[in-house]
Formats: sequence, structure tokens, C-alpha cells
Amino acid sequence: MIYPIVKFGNPVLEKPAEPVTVFDGDLKKLVEDMFESMYAAKGVGLAAPQIGISKRLAVIDVTFKEDPKAKLVLLNPQIIHTEGRHTQSEGCLSIPEFREPVTRAKKVTVRAQDLHGNWFEKTGEELLARAFLHETDHLNGKLYMSHLSALKRDLMKRKIRKLMKAGEW
Ligand code: NI
Repeated sequence: MIYPIVKFGNPVLEKPAEPVTVFDGDLKKLVEDMFESMYAAKGVGLAAPQIGISKRLAVIDVTFKEDPKAKLVLLNPQIIHTEGRHTQSEGCLSIPEFREPVTRAKKVTVRAQDLHGNWFEKTGEELLARAFLHETDHLNGKLYMSHLSALKRDLMKRKIRKLMKAGEW
């Protein structure tokens, strides 16, 4: 099932999500649906709040279907190590049509649970590191615009408000 993506302005995107505590078939189905929804929206990462579900769950595939082994499910993720700095243009499915350069750590280690509830650690660099940080931010109610200068952030919000008024958001 493909879920519609929730856009900026919906409060679910700006509140901390609830921990995942039940690792069952329903969760597995939700994860499958999230991958399907992410691919349909042409994204490489998707957090549950972005489909209106306030749970600490995110899916990532920075290869976009090229490598099945690159599919990552992060349940209750925590960033446990960051290193270096890297600036790259970043977007978000919940803020369509906008992109801005964002400086983040270059190398990131995340600790998370898998679908069976087992904890694992994974280290990524550049795009994968960025995805770990971007998606974990989502689960904390934080959007990438919070990493921009106040000036750029206000400009982006003004443009979005204009689109909302025009019924184009
Ligand atoms: Ni996003």
C-alpha cells in the first residue's frame, strides 16, 4: 500500500515520535509499505511521521532499488558517533520542490533495532551518513530547514506559505 506523503505544515512532522515496542507482522507490513511509498515518491529515505504515523521508524535505500542489500530499516535509531563535516544539497519528500545545501557530519554511526527487535550498529559516509541524520531528525520532530540559517529558513517558510495560500501545497 502506498501512503500519501505528509507535507510541511502538518504538526505530526514537528513532534517527537513514539518508540516502537511491538515487533510483529503488522510492523513488517508497515515497513514494506514504507519502502513502497518511498520509492513511489522517488525518495531515498522515509520516516514514519512522513506518512502520518508518529513512530520511531525509518527506511533508507540510498541506491534507490539498485542494491537490495542497501535497504535499511531503522527502528528506534540513535546517533552514537559523528565525524567530520560535509556539505551537500539536501531535500525532503515533505518539503517538495525545495533543496538547500546543508552541512552535516561526514561519517555517522547509528544504533537501531531491526524487525526482530535486535540492536545493531551501522556506519555510513556522505549520503548514507546524511540519511541517518536526516531520518533520525524526523523522528525527533526536526526538519532539515532547522539546519539552515534563519534567513534561508524564513525565506523557505514564506515561499511555502505562499504556495499554501494558492492551494498549491
Ligand atoms: Ni525528510
